[in-house]
Amino acid sequence: MSYEEQTRRSFLVRSVLASAGLGLASRICKGADAPQTFISAASLKPGEKLRIGILGCGNRSQAHIQAVNHLAEHMEVAALCDILPEKLEEKKKMVKSGEPRLYTDSTKMLKEADVHAVVVVLPNTLHREGTIASLEAGKHVLCEKPLTLKVADTKAIIDASGRTQRIVQVGTQSRHSPGYAALAQKLREGLIGPVLYGVAQTFRADWVKLYPDPEEDSQKNWRMRQDEGGSVVYEMGIHTIDVFNWFIGDEPVEITCLGGVHNRKLQNRDSWDHAGIVVRYANGALMTYGGNLYSCGGPGPDILFGENATLQLGSRGAGEAIVRKCAYWRPYGKGTGPDKMEAIKLPTSKTDPSTLQYLHFLDAVQGKKPAFPSARDHLPAVLIAQAAQMSLAERRHIKASEVT
Ligand SMILES: NC(=O)c1ccc[n+]([C@@H]2O[C@H](COP(=O)([O-])OP(=O)(O)OC[C@H]3O[C@@H](n4cnc5c(N)ncnc54)[C@H](O)[C@@H]3O)[C@@H](O)[C@H]2O)c1
Repeated sequence: MSYEEQTRRSFLVRSVLASAGLGLASRICKGADAPQTFISAASLKPGEKLRIGILGCGNRSQAHIQAVNHLAEHMEVAALCDILPEKLEEKKKMVKSGEPRLYTDSTKMLKEADVHAVVVVLPNTLHREGTIASLEAGKHVLCEKPLTLKVADTKAIIDASGRTQRIVQVGTQSRHSPGYAALAQKLREGLIGPVLYGVAQTFRADWVKLYPDPEEDSQKNWRMRQDEGGSVVYEMGIHTIDVFNWFIGDEPVEITCLGGVHNRKLQNRDSWDHAGIVVRYANGALMTYGGNLYSCGGPGPDILFGENATLQLGSRGAGEAIVRKCAYWRPYGKGTGPDKMEAIKLPTSKTDPSTLQYLHFLDAVQGKKPAFPSARDHLPAVLIAQAAQMSLAERRHIKASEVT
């Protein structure tokens, strides 16, 4: 299908879907639509707190415990589970809301602990298993990003959510940045016209801690293995890619990627420390993503080029974004107006996005709002990351329809 045919088809599909009220990811996820509106809600009695079990008590669990501590009026940590007892003791000391029971076996926790919801903070390859087991035990789930490494696993979670009538929210906290939420809305309202091109990046240093004992290092540093960690793309890129999918507002149709391991001075990893991805969306928009884990920051802001203007994003829409309109955007050389820069103020919050995602989750488990981002919202980001892996392995462009 030519690019023009593809674009026209996409427009027609979008019109039909828009009138049917269906979102982007439900198209990619045909046949696996969880009926969010029929999800059975947790009914909390007046004054009752949402009881949470945390599955996986490593580094990231600290942010989850802190978020629950901030919202102590509404929720508490009622259970902690990790195969390593020392992690349980360490994290228990951080809990200020709740008296958590400790488990080294997740099956036991799911059977015995009196919790409404489970927060899955396990290594990436265990997200599917941990999430589905929690749903089947009747718990709502907040699962860390990436929801899974593969599209098929995300679809299995969506199916399980529908089957068990429990919600799944994904821990891409950037979706809860008030600045980004405002920008997503403004983009839908035509802030820069249709988005034609996005430039997204995550250049930063790695945070790995090496252990002298090779066995301990291998157990704890799962992120260093490509098939478990999934590389800079799943570790960092997935946040930005997820947000750009939201901003661009259409489905990815073609993906290509180059990457690998550059910097062997840092550690012995086979998980890529750098990658460059190009994504074509059904509406014709192009996105380039670049990232590495051996630098001290990227060269500039993420950018969205629209038909009418350019948008420079601050970090998570912090405070302001810049809309830039240039004379040369006018067709056929008509007009030579000045390059206009306008800073637009965006809402901010003293509450960090990792905590804001819990406020949303609290409403979602009670049936007041749909989960956000849901597994379906996150699916295109998983698709792009998986397609990037395929592209690099097979040295070719990958069509979204090939990624199953
Ligand atoms: N949203 C974010 O910004 C963000 C930031 C960092 C990490 N993460 C994600 O959080 C997840 C966890 O990352 P981390 O850095 O905390 O990893 P980690 O290795 O520090 O923690 C994982 C924990 O799970 C435990 N575990 C392993 N198998 C288990 C099992 N079967 N049952 C119970 N516990 C088990 C491990 O012992 C470990 O303590 C990953 O998916 C990662 O991508 C998200």
